[in-house]
Amino acid sequence: MRLLAWVHRWLGLPLSLLLLMQALTGAIVLFKHEANDLLHHAALTADGSPPLPLQTLVGGVLRDRPDARLLRIDYPETPDSTYILRLDRGGTEWRLSVDPGSGQVNREATVAGWPIEWLFDLHYTLLLGKDGQTISGLSGLGLLILSITGPVLWWRGRPRGRGLFMVATSGGRARLLRDLHRLTGVLAALPLIILSFTGVMVALKVWTSVLVGVIAPVSGKPAPLVVARAGQPLLPLDQIIAAARADRPGAPIRNVRFPGGSGRVVLVFLEDETAPRPDATWQVWLNAYDGSILARYTDATMPAGSRFMEWMLPIHTGSAGGLALRLFWCLSALGLAGLLVTGAWGWLARRAVSPRTLHVVATDPLSPGVMGLRLRRPFGLSVRAEPGAHIDLHLTGGLIRQYSLTNAPGDRSAYAIAVQLEPAGRGGSRAMHALRVGDLVRVGLPRNSFPLDRSVPHHLLLAAGIGITPIIAMADALAGDGAPFTLHYATRDAAGVLFADRLSRLGDRVHLYPADAVPRHRLDIRTVMASAPPGTHVQACGPARFLADIRQAAHDLGWDGARVHLEGFAPTGPGTDAQPFRARLPDGRIIQVPADQTLAQALTTAGLHVAVSCGQGVCGTCTLPLRSGHALHKDQCLSPQERQTLITPCCSRGVGDIAVG
Ligand code: FES
Repeated sequence: MRLLAWVHRWLGLPLSLLLLMQALTGAIVLFKHEANDLLHHAALTADGSPPLPLQTLVGGVLRDRPDARLLRIDYPETPDSTYILRLDRGGTEWRLSVDPGSGQVNREATVAGWPIEWLFDLHYTLLLGKDGQTISGLSGLGLLILSITGPVLWWRGRPRGRGLFMVATSGGRARLLRDLHRLTGVLAALPLIILSFTGVMVALKVWTSVLVGVIAPVSGKPAPLVVARAGQPLLPLDQIIAAARADRPGAPIRNVRFPGGSGRVVLVFLEDETAPRPDATWQVWLNAYDGSILARYTDATMPAGSRFMEWMLPIHTGSAGGLALRLFWCLSALGLAGLLVTGAWGWLARRAVSPRTLHVVATDPLSPGVMGLRLRRPFGLSVRAEPGAHIDLHLTGGLIRQYSLTNAPGDRSAYAIAVQLEPAGRGGSRAMHALRVGDLVRVGLPRNSFPLDRSVPHHLLLAAGIGITPIIAMADALAGDGAPFTLHYATRDAAGVLFADRLSRLGDRVHLYPADAVPRHRLDIRTVMASAPPGTHVQACGPARFLADIRQAAHDLGWDGARVHLEGFAPTGPGTDAQPFRARLPDGRIIQVPADQTLAQALTTAGLHVAVSCGQGVCGTCTLPLRSGHALHKDQCLSPQERQTLITPCCSRGVGDIAVG
């Protein structure tokens, strides 16, 4: 599976632009005739007068273009359309729309001047001739492999516990793109297998006919030659074509070609309506000196392998199934375009949030038990560190820990964090404290679930203990803006005051409350909030008890919840007072969530993938839609408005019955 996924990804990504181009051009050239008519209707419409002899018409065109060599004549498809003459002029192919009645050239341009023809060439040969055709065929082979491996990967990794074709609209862009990619891939797999297979068979005909020849006989179509006859003129074109018509009476002519360019051999393609293949042709090679037939290739005379090969083009172009098949192929080609976009974009989205390896470039004990760390990107690339943002550190043993960024404004050389040692914790802080300069750590991109609204009239910054980490970045940012704020910072003791230098530079806007101060100077949350100027917003970070006091004070003072922004760091978990409840899932199932399990754990047991990062309601990673019911929100990242419709299942619970997802 891993190998298959690796092949699928590393075949698809490099080919995505080429295949995207082929998908889009393919979707258009399926309607080549209609599109040409739309773009050049006047130039492709005949004036309706009786047709000139072909020799007269061609002679007139060539007389005015003495440097030109006739390559091919496409016959009018309807009585009111024109001939298309293909001329070689100095190695460049020109196409002329010529009125059958007047012989007038209605339009004349190189292939680049016929946009749909140019798109066709781009699709088939990448405008690079035979080499481009080979590349095009090989990319088709890549698509064939992708179209087979994709559904296998989908089936092996299909989501259990939810609809096979369900698209997760919650869970982030990367997940949405992945679900869309899988859904489109499964629906489009069969048509894409057929389209890529037939495309490869056509574009790499030289090789594929050898393979087909192993199973069934394949014959070539040798081109006859006619040696020059000194002094003998070639027959008029009309006479040669009459000889071809006599070979297949009543069959319309598709086109006339002049292999070799000498004009001594003329190849006429007539329709062969007796063949089962819809666009089968009766190909007659004629000697232009006397109109004798040199060779004839028809469906009936071909061996089975050749007939199989001949089916590939009409299937690929959709002509084998009429308008319905062409529309279906067009839809499939657009599906392929969607697959390539969702595949590449999804990969980029996953990559954007996947952890990167950073260097520890500084360790700095900030206080007893708190270590400051600076983590630098490769090549010293600058970092983005908004006030309130945090980064995920991916530690050994699958531990992921969130740390607020403490960067001062303009400090972009490395991520700055502070880690408090938790001897009784699960090992994350011990691992962090063991880091040394030069060590490598895996770090996710910064996310901000505790943003600072810099447009409000006044900020009240409240911090307790290690909760100063996001608050110091906010205070420095507000000071840099010249915005009014006050900062109240409670610590266990004077030695526990972090960032003392930075705080001292903020002057009398900062109020410290070390618990060992004599006389004791307690932070009275209710009083500082009550005395804050109107319109003040609180940004607070600290342990759960501290935040609960702020919530209570805000409630008592009648503060709008939108003015209170909290971030905590104490684990919440189910808690000893947790009650069981029931949750209805998107697929209609109802699961029991026992008192000793979180909702995230119960959902995972039920087969739903829930991404959990902090597990504490801090980061917002696990957020799910709350469709109905009453929830006991224990997170510190959702606003009161968001709590109406969202829930963090890592810590929040339902009361009675809720519906999620
Ligand atoms: S995992 Fe972080 S909020 Fe749930």
